[in-house]
Amino acid sequence: MTARDTLKSILPASARRWLRSWQLASERFLRRFQGEANLGSLRRIVPVSPSDFGGNRGQCIDRYYIEKFLTEHAADVRGRVLDFADDTYARRFGGNRITSVDVLHATEGNPQATIVADLAQGENLPTESYDCILCTQVLLLIYDLRAAVRTLHRILKPGGVVLVTVPGIQKITRGDMQVTGDYWRFTDASMRRLFEEIFPKENVQVQAFGNVLAAVAFLHGFAVEDLRPGDLDFHDPDFQVSIALRAVKA
Ligand SMILES: C[S@@+](CC[C@H](N)C(=O)[O-])C[C@H]1O[C@@H](n2cnc3c(N)ncnc32)[C@H](O)[C@@H]1O
Repeated sequence: MTARDTLKSILPASARRWLRSWQLASERFLRRFQGEANLGSLRRIVPVSPSDFGGNRGQCIDRYYIEKFLTEHAADVRGRVLDFADDTYARRFGGNRITSVDVLHATEGNPQATIVADLAQGENLPTESYDCILCTQVLLLIYDLRAAVRTLHRILKPGGVVLVTVPGIQKITRGDMQVTGDYWRFTDASMRRLFEEIFPKENVQVQAFGNVLAAVAFLHGFAVEDLRPGDLDFHDPDFQVSIALRAVKA
């Protein structure tokens, strides 16, 4: 007979119940010190901002990382530049270093587009033409990634730079899903391998951004303004919200 069984047999039921409740209370107390948390207002099955990525509350969390990366590499945005959907980033980060901007869009009907083409097919896209390509938030929408990266490489001038961002932890982009499809989420490892198959290894730099708070907040549609200064800059490699890559053609 174990000590536990002996105690059970000699203690009255009321004392056993008291001991059991005392045991549960002390376990709860200990859990608090072990980092147990309360889900609070996040105990919900639909996001706080279901219809967007936080843009109706302020700056989107992924844009904070994308623009931080583009700011760090603004010097690459120069000469003849290719941008996607519109020329906002080319003009904002390139300023007077740029000489011209082409805007690529996958489908007809975008008045800002100067080229309508599929990056995976590469039609209408001139070889060795661009000093810089700003390929932000595009590759997630292209099923044949390898073909798309081959085109990016082909259309860059020798020495040209492609600046890429893709999502790691992010919900589906519903509008794009309906038009082109939304196929992929990435890690720093998948991005590195994908580009190192085409670009020289030593010319590929990859950077991941995010932490668990940034990921949860972004999934719910909170904005940068909902967080404290510094919350987004803590880097946890296990919670990659955005992945950025810079590759230079040899
Ligand atoms: C979400 S927008 C991203 C562009 C924008 N500059 C940004 O930073 O958010 C996605 C762009 O990728 C383009 N796109 C999607 N699939 C494509 C494909 N197969 N070939 C070329 N462009 C594609 C879309 O037409 C659109 O212009």
